[in-house]
Amino acid sequence: MAKIELQGLVKAYGNTRAVHGIDLTIEDGEFVVFVGPSGCGKSTTLRMIAGLEDISGGVLKIGDEVVNQREPKQRNIAMVFQNYAIYPHMTVGQNIGFGLYTSKLSKAEKQKRIEETGKILGLEKLLDRRPAALSGGQRQRVAIGRAMVRDPVAFLFDEPLSNLDAQLRSQMRMEIKSLHRRLGTTIVYVTHDQVEAMTMADKIVVMREGNILQVGTPTDLYENPVDVFTARFIGSPSMNMMEADLTGGNLAIEGVTVSGLSLPTHEGNVIVGIRPHDLVVGEGNGAGLSGSGLVEAVEPLGSETLVHLMLGKTLVTATAPGRVVPAIGSTVAVRAEAGALYLFDAASEKALGRA
Ligand SMILES: Nc1ncnc2c1ncn2[C@@H]1O[C@H](COP(=O)(O)OP(=O)(O)O)[C@@H](O)[C@H]1O
Ligand SMILES: [Mg+2]
Repeated sequence: MAKIELQGLVKAYGNTRAVHGIDLTIEDGEFVVFVGPSGCGKSTTLRMIAGLEDISGGVLKIGDEVVNQREPKQRNIAMVFQNYAIYPHMTVGQNIGFGLYTSKLSKAEKQKRIEETGKILGLEKLLDRRPAALSGGQRQRVAIGRAMVRDPVAFLFDEPLSNLDAQLRSQMRMEIKSLHRRLGTTIVYVTHDQVEAMTMADKIVVMREGNILQVGTPTDLYENPVDVFTARFIGSPSMNMMEADLTGGNLAIEGVTVSGLSLPTHEGNVIVGIRPHDLVVGEGNGAGLSGSGLVEAVEPLGSETLVHLMLGKTLVTATAPGRVVPAIGSTVAVRAEAGALYLFDAASEKALGRA
């Protein structure tokens, strides 16, 4: 097992840079998730760590050693891809054993490793089966088994669950997480799905356009996003954003009133963010924000209803508790408590603080 360090890591394809010199320390045993929209450089970064992509600049260390020039197999890192290639003509055991193809272990030792791996993954009774006789989740486990059997210092996952249906995806999230708890091996996991990031990560790395925007625990990122992008990217449904003006300690937002807020010191145009779960249907009293607007759409979810309404000039999403479903075209009141407002500078989109 080992720590992985990225120091000013750059990837250029010709004249265009896919990764702009990123710095990151992945601690030994940590579960780190890279998240960001398609094309932001997640796979490229992962492939540089694996050694599948040349590094154009900067330093990559595994343990205390610089490994920029090392071949993938010398790095002892296992990669699990989205389109997990397991071989239909081989049994489960042979598929897992394929991970030991180049190893110098004896036949008996290889068999022992395969059986141990099968046991850890709950595949021990299926080692003689062909992949065709497995469920999607079991096949995914075979692919993980092939990576695990080599006892790597780290696992790299590139969107491994994208091809699975919602139910299996949620089951596999928990399986991979529990596998990590049992093995304690470093995992670097790439996804564009913020729910996967939030539910699995010890540490989330938010990427955009080849840069790292923010690194933190799921709670850090949810509570203290550094900018509008991270604020909107983390949390579902996305944070509402309203244009506002902050002058002389007075916050003015069209269509709503605010009172009793302790505001950050700033002068000028700001963006006010409120999470849909903090913007609640109902009359306001006390410190916070309140307003009312015309309901444009509703999404009853059973336990709660998402209500889309016009608040001033912004279409926002609010939450109505329980089985309350406001009528489309009706006017409803909404409120948010003090502390639920996230303020950002309108020009730089950087966070100014909570109010
Ligand atoms: N082989 C390549 N040649 C040129 N550009 C590439 C190549 N691979 C990736 N890119 C570019 O690098 C950027 C990052 O890609 P990628 O790491 O695959 O993003 P992600 O995995 O976050 O979706 C994208 O703009 C992509 O078009
Ligand atoms: Mg990718």
